[in-house]
Amino acid sequence: MIKPHGSEELMPKIVSTEEEKVALLDSAKSMKKMTVNSAAAANLVMLGAGYFTPLEGFMGKSEVVSVANNMQLNNGLFWPTPVVNLTNQELDFKEGESIALIDPNVDGEQIIAIQNIDKIEKLSSSEIDSIVEKVYGTKDKSHPGVQTFYEQGDTLISGNVSVLNFSYFEKDFGETFRTAMQIRSSIESKGWENVVAFQTRNPMHRAHEELCRMAGERVNADGILIHMLLGKLKPGDIPADVRDTAIRTMVDHYFPKDYVMITGYGFDMLYAGPREALLHAVFRQNCGCSYLIVGRDHAGVGDFYGAFDAQDIFDSVPKDALNIKIFKADHTAYSKKLNKVVMMRDVDDHTKDDFVILSGTKVREMLSKGESLPKEFARPEVAEVLMKHYMKE
Ligand code: ADX
Repeated sequence: MIKPHGSEELMPKIVSTEEEKVALLDSAKSMKKMTVNSAAAANLVMLGAGYFTPLEGFMGKSEVVSVANNMQLNNGLFWPTPVVNLTNQELDFKEGESIALIDPNVDGEQIIAIQNIDKIEKLSSSEIDSIVEKVYGTKDKSHPGVQTFYEQGDTLISGNVSVLNFSYFEKDFGETFRTAMQIRSSIESKGWENVVAFQTRNPMHRAHEELCRMAGERVNADGILIHMLLGKLKPGDIPADVRDTAIRTMVDHYFPKDYVMITGYGFDMLYAGPREALLHAVFRQNCGCSYLIVGRDHAGVGDFYGAFDAQDIFDSVPKDALNIKIFKADHTAYSKKLNKVVMMRDVDDHTKDDFVILSGTKVREMLSKGESLPKEFARPEVAEVLMKHYMKE
């Protein structure tokens, strides 16, 4: 199986034994506490679950700047996005101390991790601007990821972490939330070698379904890993439990048994387009996948990125940056001529009018107006799940 990123083995930061957990929680009683923001909590879940191998914790200033400018950790390893604990709170602890990090997404002041504080550093507003511009390609605060980044504050708290739990993800998405360790071991026990990963934050409509099928066939995959984002999204996006049901319904009806694994990961969407596509590739390599599908406007939002920027960026990173390969998918849409979903580049005799353009955004618009979805848009079983959700709203 493909090796994890920059390491022979996965390096999950979750505390693995109950004894160690009890001991850490006991010593946490005398530690200072800090409630982290949701983005930092999501980083902790990813660190804990092995997805961010080989990171040990939160990055400090020199590393964040290096990642933003050159996509490199301090040790030179490829890494595309900052993994930070940023705050604007007054701090009552110092460098060298260990502190207990409180989860903002769970009731009852639950400790999600212990952090050994390496450095506490201020970022100037021009430094923040420069990081944001490099990572998101814009400083426009109407971009939801940019807005979230600016809201986090200017004090960077770096250092290694020991993660104690996976926040709300195991409880809320027990069937679907999986760690990178669990995914690797499922792939191994199925005897799969060539696995295609599909990133999604949408219920899977017909274009998504067909992308998986086409990618699987064209790279001769043993199986497909559907890997959905379970964390926070911008307002208006479809909640994870509804997407989960929609995806399970679609797979049950339209894919052969034992060809698709339906899983999810606990991270908040960055909407960072190309940079997030690179991060997606890193953590699917950590899951043991050999390919990641990158299609049109991958991880994008609004008109902030060109339709294929998230594919092109893979050609600009060093050849040895990643071992996972990218399945570059062209715009996929329903052909009225052929009565099926096709990739546009495969049908050069078509004009624009021969396609029904399928997009998640369009689907959402129709559903929120109470319009039923045509068969070109979504499978009827999936449409039903989505209609039920919008009727309850
Ligand atoms: S994403 O933010 O997670 O990328 P989404 O769930 O809509 O959003 O897309 C999942 C994957 O499918 C991405 O690789 C995206 O580029 C691809 N994709 C979605 N719709 C299309 C389409 N109509 N044509 C080509 N690729 C698409």
